[in-house]
Amino acid sequence: MKVSKRITRIEPSLTRKMFNMAQNFNDVIDLTLGDPDLAPPEELRKAAYRAMEENRLHYSANAGLPEARRAVSQKIAKVWGKECPTENIAITVGGMEALFLSLYCMIDEGDEVIVFAPYYINYLQMIELCGGTPVILDAYDVQKGLDVSRDTLEAAVTDRTIAVIINSPNNPTGDVFSKETLYDIAAVAQKYDLTIISDEVYRTLLYDGRAHESVLQFPEAEGRTIVVDSMSKEYSMTGWRIGFAFGPQELIANMVKMQENVAACANVASQYALLEAYQNKVPNHYIVEEFQERRDYLYSALKEINLLRVQKPKGTFYLFVDISQTGYRSEEFAYKLLEAVHVAVVPGVVYGKAYDGYIRVAFTRKVETLEQAVERLQTFFDELEKGR
Ligand SMILES: Cc1ncc(COP(=O)(O)O)c(C=O)c1O
Repeated sequence: MKVSKRITRIEPSLTRKMFNMAQNFNDVIDLTLGDPDLAPPEELRKAAYRAMEENRLHYSANAGLPEARRAVSQKIAKVWGKECPTENIAITVGGMEALFLSLYCMIDEGDEVIVFAPYYINYLQMIELCGGTPVILDAYDVQKGLDVSRDTLEAAVTDRTIAVIINSPNNPTGDVFSKETLYDIAAVAQKYDLTIISDEVYRTLLYDGRAHESVLQFPEAEGRTIVVDSMSKEYSMTGWRIGFAFGPQELIANMVKMQENVAACANVASQYALLEAYQNKVPNHYIVEEFQERRDYLYSALKEINLLRVQKPKGTFYLFVDISQTGYRSEEFAYKLLEAVHVAVVPGVVYGKAYDGYIRVAFTRKVETLEQAVERLQTFFDELEKGR
């Protein structure tokens, strides 16, 4: 059977490979996937059941239920302080589909999209699937955190550059771009007429009372930014596959046209949960508090291990740990750790060539499980140091 060149060029990610390998051990502690163990708020689950019971689960409009789009519009006013007509909003199958539809609707063969590394691997694969070329800019260091200078960014722009993707709070580093850097990105985008795709799916997972900063606060980003958001991380609803995008009407209209051909609409039970969440301003405090506790525990424990260097994450549920002093490259390290003590993590090289000295550890498991993982890590590092 023939399969397309486009899809054969794409490799399944090493994250999945690690996850699959981890399943071979029955006592494994799996800290690979960004999928938390918490349940969504009861009201949201009930809203979905009610829709099922009342036989309200039929196709919706491609862009989503009109009332759900109106609820998203209210949410946008509250979070981003913008008036956003419903024509500028598309409800999607998670943040991922919003990313894919938007890239598909803006990229022509050979167009370049700037991506900061360490990156969410799906950005690269999606850009390539759409016929574009990702241009990668390294933007993280365990000492300095997430940062990119305006000069570096400008130097990456060519006459084929059409867009730049920002992800802050950031997977995999747990860090955020400073307001100054966000401004620089907005200003460069305006200067070279680039679209900004602002992936803000971790927007609510910020700790120590930190407020979210969006690039959209700058007038330079106005009219050229598409924001991607999702319920997956905010409400721990990864499998519900519900998210949205908002931005310039022309792009959204084309994404909706594309949606007709891809999924028809996002899952309607999940759309009713979204409506409930946004209309009634359902909070997610218990999720944020739980992750903050896990972060505090894991950060202080890993910081005590000699051969590791780690920055305290400001948001998300990931720690990006510098393992370069172990002398192992990230993939080798991850395999050894899994084999020796049955703890699964993601090799940093997944997030960019420059990050082969890192691993990503997701604190998507409860503190007691993290304590066990840390004990195992300590055993692993004791053995490592003995062998030196
Ligand atoms: C940076 C980033 N963007 C987007 C997504 C997509 O999330 P979803 O499609 O579940 O909304 C993820 C999921 O892990 C992510 O880490």
